[in-house]
Amino acid sequence: MGLDIDFVRAQFPAFSEPSLKHQAFFENAGGSYPCRFVVDRLARFYRERKVQPYWAFDASRVAGEEMDEARRRLAAMLGVEADELSFGPSTTANVYVLAQAFRGWLNPGDAVVVTDQDHEANSGAWRRLGGEGIEIREWRIDPETGHLDPARLAPLLDRKVRLVAFPHCSNIVGEINDVAAITTMAHKAGAAVCVDGVSYAPHGLPDVGALGADIYLFSAYKAYGPHQGLMVVRRSLGEALPNQGHGFNAGKLHQRFTPAGPDHAQVAACAGMADYVDVLFSATGLEHRDSRGRARAVHDAMRDRERRLLRQLLDFIGSKRGLRLIGPGDARRRAPTVSVVAEEPGEALAAELAAHDIMAGGGDFYAVRPLKAMGIDPGHGVLRLSFTHYTSEEEIDRLITALQHVI
Ligand SMILES: Cc1ncc(COP(=O)(O)O)c(C=O)c1O
Repeated sequence: MGLDIDFVRAQFPAFSEPSLKHQAFFENAGGSYPCRFVVDRLARFYRERKVQPYWAFDASRVAGEEMDEARRRLAAMLGVEADELSFGPSTTANVYVLAQAFRGWLNPGDAVVVTDQDHEANSGAWRRLGGEGIEIREWRIDPETGHLDPARLAPLLDRKVRLVAFPHCSNIVGEINDVAAITTMAHKAGAAVCVDGVSYAPHGLPDVGALGADIYLFSAYKAYGPHQGLMVVRRSLGEALPNQGHGFNAGKLHQRFTPAGPDHAQVAACAGMADYVDVLFSATGLEHRDSRGRARAVHDAMRDRERRLLRQLLDFIGSKRGLRLIGPGDARRRAPTVSVVAEEPGEALAAELAAHDIMAGGGDFYAVRPLKAMGIDPGHGVLRLSFTHYTSEEEIDRLITALQHVI
């Protein structure tokens, strides 16, 4: 199944916005453009149903129904039960709440494995448990390549380990970690896993059920949606961890780890992310599939397209002397989140690219630990060029031309 790029881009209002027209967008890992379904649902919610949801009167009833629809449809696409998916303000906030739950569940002497490849969101909150008698073990990356080798996890696992927190894909290294294999290793040792999928999900919704992760988190605002954090907590772990919500809601799995009142409009607008997957699927002409099958087909089509574009960018980077590519040079092994270290600091390079109408960023991207582990001064930082399936061939060409000028 191939994606028709004109059709894809027609689903994003930003691509027909005059003020953005001449800009090529390469800061997608910071936050993607939202698809039109999300924009329309958000505006409709504010216009027609911005009331307390779940009462009997019409505006309230449809508001609640739309919130439930978002959870039900996205959970089905992720291969989990509807009440195993919940919405919080961000992935950082969701991990913070989960760490509070683990704080009440773990016993002194238990151990948690964290990595030095993660964004701080899936690292700092877990490491703080170390102040309370929990042993923190660090699964370290290769200092040259940034690779997180499962062989280095094996010696860290024993019966004391209750949790392994790691990324599906780092927002700097870009390499796709083998979540299913790592999860199997952790489970064999009796540990649960918490997977940060923020840098992976924009490149195709993962089948969390098939991956086997106990916790899987990602941020809707980087995956064509509104500013929400999506969190899957599988039932057996979610029911075992102490409830962090109101006591009287303890029996509702999807409310146990979201103590804040939800942002009703944004939760409802997340249904637009499911609309987008469905619309891409129906444009393919493939025969009918269930939600999970449709999401999987769209995931594969997004990855196919990205890989093709990525090869071109990686070839160019490989041909440039004095540029250090972070992560694999093989497009099959990585997401199109490409960090490079150059002589000039990342932020300065990004500013130079802006003068060529290339939107990109530079710095540490809250991935201070991986940068330090690879011997990169976070103050110098990386230039990060990140794109998705909606990026055009022409934009990749423009990026390469601009890079030739600034590097
Ligand atoms: C890999 C990764 N994890 C976690 C986060 C934090 O997500 P949020 O902004 O939703 O807290 C980010 C944000 O950039 C990220 O790139």
